[in-house]
Amino acid sequence: MRILGVAGSPRRGGNTDILLAEVMKGAASKGAETKTIVINKLNISPCQHCDACLKGGECAIKDEMQDIYKEFEQADIIVLASPIQFMGVTAPMKAFIDRFQSRWARKYVLKIPPLGDERKRKGFFVSVGGTKLKNLFEPALVMIKAFFLILNIDYAGELVFPGIDEKGAINQHPDALKQAFIAGQELVEK
Ligand SMILES: Cc1cc2nc3c(=O)[nH]c(=O)nc-3n(C[C@H](O)[C@H](O)[C@H](O)COP(=O)(O)O)c2cc1C
Repeated sequence: MRILGVAGSPRRGGNTDILLAEVMKGAASKGAETKTIVINKLNISPCQHCDACLKGGECAIKDEMQDIYKEFEQADIIVLASPIQFMGVTAPMKAFIDRFQSRWARKYVLKIPPLGDERKRKGFFVSVGGTKLKNLFEPALVMIKAFFLILNIDYAGELVFPGIDEKGAINQHPDALKQAFIAGQELVEK
């Protein structure tokens, strides 16, 4: 069982990083092989809508997304972690998501499996936001669910915490870290 964590915050050691690390620890405690990638550190261009992918299902931009496509193909569980920024995911995470247009093309234009095979994969979302707005996570959740659906990844749920703003504030939450650890365990077990 291989679990891939995708850290979407530009802030290293911030709240979503802390939560993602706990999810990964929980998964590792149940025997999963874990890997976390930090997309803000990688060279990931936004999609240029060149439509090259409509012909062969490959992205024409040869940057570090090429390695990420391989990581997705090898993963059984994918955990995306992003704080809310301007009511959506972070800019690095949005660029990363858009670069799966080539996999959208595979599925909907070329009629081939978006991730190379029909293996059952599970997807999970981790987020925090500084405010407590009623609909704080809804726009991001719509996007993340669509992302997983397009990639034939079964949506396994989310762990989201409003009112978490300062760096490390999640450590003061009564049981967020515990919830994250358990979520990691359950992703492997269920
Ligand atoms: C550019 C930017 C935009 C933000 N937009 C929102 C927002 O729309 N709603 C909100 O509740 N918090 C917003 N925040 C606050 C972050 O969600 C919050 O600080 C969060 O804890 C950061 O998580 P991190 O430590 O994982 O980066 C924003 C922060 C930044 C830097």
